[in-house]
Amino acid sequence: MERSLVLLKPDTVQRGLMGQIIGRIEKKGLKVTGMKMMEVEEGLAKEHYAEHVDKDFFSDLFGFITSSPIVAMVVEGEQAISVLRNMMGATNPFEAEPGTIRGDFGLDLTKNLIHGSDSPESAKREIDLFFGSEEILDYELTVGEWH
Ligand code: RTP
Ligand code: MG
Repeated sequence: MERSLVLLKPDTVQRGLMGQIIGRIEKKGLKVTGMKMMEVEEGLAKEHYAEHVDKDFFSDLFGFITSSPIVAMVVEGEQAISVLRNMMGATNPFEAEPGTIRGDFGLDLTKNLIHGSDSPESAKREIDLFFGSEEILDYELTVGEWH
């Protein structure tokens, strides 16, 4: 069982797409074990996107992720990291396949709706940044055997 950090980025919240995107995650059979709405402060943004701080697009990325509230989630399931990355689609919504979240809803490289961790190591680091252990729930989805 894997865990991923998922962020519904400011454009998702502003455009009223939270429900549709959370619905896709639920319908896939993945389990939400942590979820909260929050603002991403400067320090958290820099830590979360540490690998990108020196890139020329960082100021756009930083400005965007700190501009308006997000929803942070911990999502669990078998191969959850790659399953979610496939559901999200390519980073650039212009290249993302129809049927993916970015392919269906996005037209901007910065405002690309959703973040998902890209490896188990990133997932652990990112979940620890956004969530205290008491905010992640341990429970069974009792319909699980039907998926
Ligand atoms: P994310 O971390 O946000 O889930 O996105 P990702 O893994 O698909 O893409 P990543 O390479 O981690 O890039 C982080 C965010 O930076 C913006 N970006 N801009 N060339 C560019 O101008 C460029 N490349 C990346 C995107 O908004 C991407 O989500
Ligand atoms: Mg990334």
